[in-house]
Amino acid sequence: MPAGSAWCQPALLLLLSCVPLRAAEISCRNEDGETVDWFALYKLPKHAKGQIPLLGLEYLYMDALTPQWQLGKYLINMSQGALGQTLQQLYETYESKAKMCVSLQRNTTAYAIYNDEIPESDSKGSKCGHTKGFLLLDKSQGFWVIHSVPLFPPNPEDGYGYPSTGESFGQTAICITFKYDQFTEIDQQMLSYNPGIYSCSIPDIFQADLPNLQKLCAKSRLPSPPLCHLSKLQSAQGETFLHFAKSHLFIDDIYVAWMAQELKTDLLAESWQRSGEKLYSNCSLDYHVYNINTIGMPLNSTFHSINDHSKWAVSRKYKDQWTCIGDLNRAAEQAWRSGGFICTQNEQIYKAFRHLIIHYESCTSA
Ligand SMILES: *[C@@H]1O[C@H](CO)[C@@H](O)[C@H](O)[C@H]1NC(C)=O
Ligand SMILES: *[C@@H]1O[C@H](CO)[C@@H](O)[C@H](O)[C@H]1NC(C)=O
Ligand SMILES: *[C@@H]1O[C@H](CO)[C@@H](O)[C@H](O)[C@H]1NC(C)=O
Ligand SMILES: *[C@@H]1O[C@H](CO)[C@@H](O)[C@H](O)[C@H]1NC(C)=O
Repeated sequence: MPAGSAWCQPALLLLLSCVPLRAAEISCRNEDGETVDWFALYKLPKHAKGQIPLLGLEYLYMDALTPQWQLGKYLINMSQGALGQTLQQLYETYESKAKMCVSLQRNTTAYAIYNDEIPESDSKGSKCGHTKGFLLLDKSQGFWVIHSVPLFPPNPEDGYGYPSTGESFGQTAICITFKYDQFTEIDQQMLSYNPGIYSCSIPDIFQADLPNLQKLCAKSRLPSPPLCHLSKLQSAQGETFLHFAKSHLFIDDIYVAWMAQELKTDLLAESWQRSGEKLYSNCSLDYHVYNINTIGMPLNSTFHSINDHSKWAVSRKYKDQWTCIGDLNRAAEQAWRSGGFICTQNEQIYKAFRHLIIHYESCTSA
């Protein structure tokens, strides 16, 4: 052996020990820890009638490999669930005790976690967007999760957890895996979104491609945002998504004033109706928006929308097939908040959500 190998070898071993962490690509993960192109989940409210036990932690789950609702194998507070498995990739990168691996990965991995209601903080971010989500990527690919749960997820150093405040009501989440180039589009959306980021790392190698996320992460000044911006995104497996982002200066109901008209479809909308001034079903413009008021889950369980904090909408007509999952409620005050929706015409996602609707309010009932 040549001289020098004595100190080289431990270094080499250390490098090799990094390999398992790097082997799998950053991706949405299902409940078995396998990579999936996308998943959607719907946490049930505590107050539902039916056969599913009601801890407020059970959820319906579907993904690209199993594209119809099934009851989650775990409770939403367990790290084995899809949200926990997906976040685990962030914890591995930023928590691992193998310091050398961490510093290598830290320089090549970017993440941001945002919410208008931040864990372990008293302040409600009314200046930032009414948006909740997180993303993790390297220069190859990554994922983006959009969800409705306040105070979630915990700071990465605290590991996985689910807040008790998120138990009572229904909640939705969608995760999509994207190749790296799509994150420059997502970065553009962040300009209108103005998310309340509470944990992040956007290393310098991302500066050119993710300038807005980097500024948001550094809490430095952003360029002035477009009123609203529509982005066409493609998942790693080629599924098309449309992302609507509105800034706080687009002062209108995103469902009626923009999404329904842009998608040219009547929408049935499910959103939190308990705070602020409720907006009724609206048939004023070409395409109408109706408020859903009763949801029926598989396994014969039903609940009223008043117990639902999730935010989603589907085409009223089956032929249109749009599903949108996002950030904003149909409440008058939300016109002044930034946020958005991610929409798809994936047939299975549409069927899964559309079939949940038992009743919606006609326009005349207002
Ligand atoms: C999840 O919540 C249930 C019900 O409150 C509790 O019994 C269980 O210990 C929790 N699990 C975790 C991992 O927090
Ligand atoms: C990682 O970043 C640190 C400082 O940000 C730098 O000193 C170090 O050389 C970088 N490591 C690699 C492998 O790029
Ligand atoms: C319906 O929504 C549009 C766009 O927000 C609004 O201008 C209009 O006043 C609403 N109509 C009713 C009857 O609320
Ligand atoms: C569904 O629930 C309703 C009311 O709780 C009950 O009357 C009905 O028998 C149930 N149906 C099935 C198939 O379990």
